[in-house]
Amino acid sequence: MRGWMGKLRAFFIFSALTLLLTGCGVDNLSALKPKGYGSDLLFDLMMISIAIMLFVFIIVMAIYTFVLIRYRQKKGQEDFIPKQTEGNKALEVIWTVIPIILLLVLAVPTVQATFDLADESTKGDEGVTTIEVTGNQYWWHFGYPDDEISTSQDLYIPTGERVYLDMKSSDVIHSFWVPSIAGKMDTNPGDNDNTMYLEAYEEGVYWGHCAELCGPSHSLMDFRVIAVSPEDYDQWKEDMQNVDPEATAEAQEGQELYENNCMGCHAIGDGAAGQGPNMTNFANRTKIAGVIEPSKENLMDWIVNPEQFKPGNQMPANLVSEDEASQIADYLLELDHSDVGASASEAEVEEE
Ligand code: CUA
Repeated sequence: MRGWMGKLRAFFIFSALTLLLTGCGVDNLSALKPKGYGSDLLFDLMMISIAIMLFVFIIVMAIYTFVLIRYRQKKGQEDFIPKQTEGNKALEVIWTVIPIILLLVLAVPTVQATFDLADESTKGDEGVTTIEVTGNQYWWHFGYPDDEISTSQDLYIPTGERVYLDMKSSDVIHSFWVPSIAGKMDTNPGDNDNTMYLEAYEEGVYWGHCAELCGPSHSLMDFRVIAVSPEDYDQWKEDMQNVDPEATAEAQEGQELYENNCMGCHAIGDGAAGQGPNMTNFANRTKIAGVIEPSKENLMDWIVNPEQFKPGNQMPANLVSEDEASQIADYLLELDHSDVGASASEAEVEEE
């Protein structure tokens, strides 16, 4: 009796924990709340396979329970051997055909969705955006070649239209994954480019993760997709193209320090991808380095010793003193060239 009660208690604790933990997580990081075309397709496939599995489970459990009760050994049957049957042709055919049908029911929409997700019929058309995505240890570069814009970590896209991505990696294999609006795609080093598209229904800040183990800071290789209305998107592009490079008087020294110490890796404005993230709209970013809450203090800590936040990253530590880091931070925090990004990150705070 004791053991039985213990098991029951464990069962209740486990159930309660399951209920509690399913509440964890972030709304805009869930494949179960699709907010884009790609994630919708994948969600439907998940539902079909779950329905098929449930159907099989219920039928099998029903037969199992029936047989267990109906044919259990009764009193006086201890020496009784039931009739041995084998090779029932009708049964054999039925339980071969049913799984084939179930697999077909799953296969047809899966193949359809696979082709749909690979559809690039409008790519390169007038007014259709193609963005270059490059995975790096441990950050993301986003280039808009048609508009001569470079940025990183926060990927801006317009809502309601298909945006194509050309994807590669500068080092090892990473995987670009924005579960609430699209599936997942590897970025490969070398010439083996991959492509996919994003299509977000509503404005919002959608969370992305690297989904391929790529080094010690793989789990910190976060990014955001910021979907804004087409009008805001045009505004953002205009803002990004007309960046005023002059710092205010207070940040002048910071700018100089930046140019002497950081510019070799971190471009501002359009230009080569660089060794480090592009900084054009740094102060509009939702996070520092994709994972740290944006504040001057955190930024200074990052500049002086990035290793403590993202182990194994390529940025050298102790390149500048704490005072210098403070001045560089003053300059970087002035790089808020677009109100579109700022309002989008406020939207994120409200949603959380
Ligand atoms: Cu990049 Cu994991």
